[in-house]
Amino acid sequence: MTVLQQPRAVTATSFRDATAEDWDYVTRLGRDAMRREAGRAVVDLLRAQKDVPKHGWQVNNYEHSLQCATRALKNGETEEYVVCCLLHDVAQDLNPYNHDKTAGDILRYHVSDENHWVIANHQIFQLSFRDHSKFDRTACERYRGHPYFEPALRFCEHYDMNCFDGGYAALPLETFEPMVHRMFEKGIDAFHAKHPYPPR
Ligand SMILES: [Fe+2]
Ligand SMILES: [Fe+2]
Repeated sequence: MTVLQQPRAVTATSFRDATAEDWDYVTRLGRDAMRREAGRAVVDLLRAQKDVPKHGWQVNNYEHSLQCATRALKNGETEEYVVCCLLHDVAQDLNPYNHDKTAGDILRYHVSDENHWVIANHQIFQLSFRDHSKFDRTACERYRGHPYFEPALRFCEHYDMNCFDGGYAALPLETFEPMVHRMFEKGIDAFHAKHPYPPR
């Protein structure tokens, strides 16, 4: 196990005790770490699901996620889209009935408006493909006419509802880790450029 060498700590024990120099110091350290560690927390969250139950399907959520991302990569989708596929169900166990919104929030500052909307609303769109179920397959019709209606259906058709094949040779998580890091780093850089410290 790597022992993390912690940087010097400030003497302040509350925000109000912190000096201007303290704020410059901790903000710089925090922002540097955000870039260095970009995407690590969400990859760790997915990795922690390696052995979650399959609930009767041939694959569990971890394997489903890798299968979605692998299909997207093999179909030549953009790196951002591949990462969205990988992470669309990362909050499945954290927030089962709103896991799309939670994943959308995680991705928000790192992806296009379209990709964010597709992931943040995929739960209702994937109902459309539950052909012999008792679920409401027309539920997504409330969004008919929305500019991202078709992209959401496309995502569910090609990279969600068809990714439960236990015989599919999905690529390992390690293949996608550098992509997640690059995407989150880019988003963090853009956010910090827009919100510099000190503010201009
Ligand atoms: Fe989902
Ligand atoms: Fe899914």
